Amino acid sequence: MISNICCIGAGYVGGPTMTVIADRCPNILINVVDTNAEKIKAWNSEDLNKLPVFEPGLRELIKKVRNKNLFFSSDIDLCIKNADAIFISVNTPIKTSGLGAGEASDLKWVEASARRISENANGHTIVIEKSTLPVRTAKVIKEILSTQEIYENDNERNKSFSVLSNPEFLAEGTAIKDLQEPDRVLIGGDDKNAILELKKLYLNWVDKHKIITTNLWSSELSKLTANAFLAQRISSINSISAICEATGADIKEVAKATGLDSRIGLKFLKAGPGFGGSCFKKDILNLVYLCKYFNLRQVGDFWEQVIKINEWQRNRIYEIIVKNLFGNISDKKILILGFSFKANTNDTRESPTIGLSINLLKENANLVFHDPQVSFDQIKNELEKFTDLQKYTNQISFCSNLYNASDYADAIIIMTEWKEYELVDWEKITKKMRKPSWVFDARGILDISKIRTENINIWQVGNGVIKN
Ligand code: NAD
Ligand code: UDX
Repeated sequence: MISNICCIGAGYVGGPTMTVIADRCPNILINVVDTNAEKIKAWNSEDLNKLPVFEPGLRELIKKVRNKNLFFSSDIDLCIKNADAIFISVNTPIKTSGLGAGEASDLKWVEASARRISENANGHTIVIEKSTLPVRTAKVIKEILSTQEIYENDNERNKSFSVLSNPEFLAEGTAIKDLQEPDRVLIGGDDKNAILELKKLYLNWVDKHKIITTNLWSSELSKLTANAFLAQRISSINSISAICEATGADIKEVAKATGLDSRIGLKFLKAGPGFGGSCFKKDILNLVYLCKYFNLRQVGDFWEQVIKINEWQRNRIYEIIVKNLFGNISDKKILILGFSFKANTNDTRESPTIGLSINLLKENANLVFHDPQVSFDQIKNELEKFTDLQKYTNQISFCSNLYNASDYADAIIIMTEWKEYELVDWEKITKKMRKPSWVFDARGILDISKIRTENINIWQVGNGVIKN
C-alpha cells in the first residue's frame, strides 16, 4: 500500500499533479522536492500569487492541502529515503550539444534522479516515470537502480525497486481539471504488484475503466504518439488556414464542417500562430530521433513535417505583418498582446511570441508587451535566451493597461487567446492608434462582425485581411 510519496521535480507537472493526488488521497503523505531552492521557496510562499505555476484552480487546492499532507522540500535525500513510491517528474528537454543535439532528449536530469534514488532509497520502492521519455528509458533507470539493488541476505543495503511508466497527459491551462478528470491513466510495467499499487492510488478518484495498463515500451511510446497526433492536427489546420486566406474560405467554418465528422472530432482544430509549449516540438523531435535510430527514415520525415509546417506558419504570419505595414516597421510602435504560449498559463517556453518579437526587433520596431500572467522580467529572460537583448533594450517595454499602451500604436498583434483580449473595446483603442492602424489576430479570437472596421484594418488567421 503506497503511503508515502516523493515527487522529484516541482515544475509544471510535479507541482499540480501532486497537489491533486494530495487532495484526492488525504491519507497519503507527499513530499515534492527540487534542486531549485528558489522554486521550493515559491511553492511554500504565503502569498499564493507567488506560486511558480499559474493554473486555474491550483491556488485553492494548495491552500487546502499544503502543509497537511503535501509538502514542498529541498531535503531530497530524506524524502527519497522515507518514500515507498517515487515519481520522477524532472525536465527532459532536447539536447543542445553533443551526440543527438537538437534531436534527442537530454536525460541528464533523469539519470541524476535515478542515481539519487539508488543511493538513498530504503526497502522496496516503486519508481514511476512521470516525465515524458524516449522509448526504453525505463531500461536505463532499471540499470542505474540495479547497481545498488541488493539481495535478501544483505541487511545493510536492503533495497529493491520496481520501475513503472505513468506518463502525464495534462495540458497547461487546464491541468487541474485534466488531473481530476483524466481521459485515461496509463500505467506501463512488468511488475504486477507494483502496477496494482499504483492503480489503487488512482482508484481513489479515477474510474477503473479509465486506468489502462500496458508493457513499459508501449506506455513510453503512447505518450510520444499522443503528442505527435495532437501537434499534427494543429499543423494540419494551420496549413489549411493559408488556403482559406488565399481562397476566401473561412477557417472556422471549414474546421467546424470537418470536425463534425465524428471520426475527426472538433477539438484541436484552432488555427493560430503555430503550437508552442515545452512538449510538442520536443516530443516529436524525440520520435524522429527514434525513427532515425531504427532506420525508419520515411516515418521520421513524415513526423518532421509537422514541425516544419509549424515553423512555416510562424514565419508566414511574421511576413504578413511586415508586408501589410508597407514592408517597413522601423520605429513603428507595435503592441503585442500575449506572451504565454497559450491562455491560462504563465509558461512561456517555446511561445510563438518569442520568435516573432525577435524578428520584429531586428527590423527596428518598438515593441510594447502585455500579458496578464507573464512579467516583463520573464519576457526579457525568455528573449535573452535567443538573442543579444542588450541591442534592443530601448525598443522594448511592458504595459499592464493595454488601453494606455495603444496610444499612437501602428499595430496590435494578438498572440495569446486570453479571454480579456476577446473583450477589448476596439472602438476605444482604435481611436488612439496612429493611422493607418492594424490589428493582426493570429489566434482568430475576434468577432469581426462586432467591430466597426472603418478606423482599422484587420487581418485574421484563416480569414486574411477583412475588407471594409
Ligand atoms: P519543469 O521544468 O517545469 O520542472 C522540472 C523540475 O525538475 C524543475 O523545477 C527542475 O529544477 C527539477 N529538477 C531537475 N533535475 C532534478 C533533480 N535531479 N532533482 C530534483 N529536481 C530536479 O518541467 P515540466 O514542464 O514539469 O515537465 C516535466 C516532465 O513532464 C517533462 O518530461 C515533460 O516533457 C513532461 N510533461 C510536461 C507537461 C507540461 O505540460 N509541462 C505535460 C506532460 C508531461
Ligand atoms: C500538450 C498536450 O495537450 C498534453 O496532453 C501533454 O500532456 C503536454 O503537451 P500543452 O502543451 O500544455 O499540452 O497545451 P496544448 O493545449 O496541447 O497546446 C499546445 C499548443 O498548441 C499551444 O501553443 C496552443 O495554443 C496550440 N494549439 C492548441 C493550437 O494552436 N490550436 C489548437 O486547436 C490547440
